[in-house]
Amino acid sequence: MWYQTKATEILGIDYPIMQGPFGGNLSSVKLVAAVSNAGGLGGYGAYTNSPQEIVEIDKQIRAATNKPYNLNLWVSDVDAGAGEIVTETAYQRAVRTFKPYFDELELPVPAKPIPFQSRFENQVQAVLDIRPKVFSYMFGMLTEDVLEQCRKRGIITVGAATTLDEAIALEATGTDMIIASGFEAGGHRPSFLRSAEASLTGTFVLVQLIREKVKIPVIAAGGIATGAGISAALTLGAAAVQIGTAFLACEESNILPIHRQMLFSDKAKYTALTKVFTGRLGRGLTSRIAEETKGKEADFLPFPLQSQWMSSLRKSALDKAQWDMIQFWGGQIAPILKHRKAETLMHALIAETTALYHHQ
Ligand SMILES: Cc1cc2nc3c(=O)[nH]c(=O)nc-3n(C[C@H](O)[C@H](O)[C@H](O)COP(=O)(O)O)c2cc1C
Repeated sequence: MWYQTKATEILGIDYPIMQGPFGGNLSSVKLVAAVSNAGGLGGYGAYTNSPQEIVEIDKQIRAATNKPYNLNLWVSDVDAGAGEIVTETAYQRAVRTFKPYFDELELPVPAKPIPFQSRFENQVQAVLDIRPKVFSYMFGMLTEDVLEQCRKRGIITVGAATTLDEAIALEATGTDMIIASGFEAGGHRPSFLRSAEASLTGTFVLVQLIREKVKIPVIAAGGIATGAGISAALTLGAAAVQIGTAFLACEESNILPIHRQMLFSDKAKYTALTKVFTGRLGRGLTSRIAEETKGKEADFLPFPLQSQWMSSLRKSALDKAQWDMIQFWGGQIAPILKHRKAETLMHALIAETTALYHHQ
């Protein structure tokens, strides 16, 4: 059967369908439970959460499902320079580029953002203590020590690659599986060897390259939202798929109602990769700010200071319904989304894939 793969065997799930974890408080316990209870693997993105919050979220997930699920963190959660006070030159460059937008919303230009210290080490300790069935991570590789502790605790580790080199490097660490993250995907590009801009490979090329050169199972992520997408990915050698945008649009996710409305609107036809809202390259529906700041990347602050610094602008733009100043995250597949409930989406994905395999 199409749904029995190396990945379903290792993960202990019925169908090789992972719900992409969403960072920045966009995941929800309800969504994780709905997907895991339907036989897939629900995922919670916790990179902005404190260790205590992660423990609390985990309790809630366990109360909502007794099936396997995935907790997700960012190995690198701070760019060079973001741990120190921003230089006056960098600050003035940001002010020069963004003052017009703050002015437009009648907001004061915010002061220099506070330096940010990485939270990963404390977060990963919380994950190890919790022992989820699956721990997926992006923006880097795990240390030998963390991987050894995961193995001892029976936690399956899944790293994200945007290039063949990253997949080979991840495999060499001894991780269990690899997400092949193509540039079609919604959200941040999790590149960690070269810049994200120099690592833009499409999902179906990336899956084939990794499948050829790496022995551990590969999971296709980016641009998949239907049974046709799943069967294509499996045909190319993927052992599972990870679906983000289609689950993000479901009513169980934690996005704002306007964000959901945008994903189902004509606006979803136009997505772009930009660093302007966070400091790291990510895909969302195109916005006026992203369009107008093309080529001005040198004026942006490093991740995550850029998002911290822009937060008053985002809040005010939401309050004033200035949608063209907001980043609504989403991937290139958004225009064909149909389903509004995670369970319905899961059932449709399974039925569509099954029908395609029966016709062969
Ligand atoms: C809003 C948003 C936030 C995301 N946050 C994370 C994250 O924190 N960690 C992660 O591993 N992947 C994250 N992703 C990637 C998804 O888990 C998934 O791999 C991707 O969305 C698949 O591509 P698709 O959107 O074309 O389905 C995010 C995606 C979106 C759309």
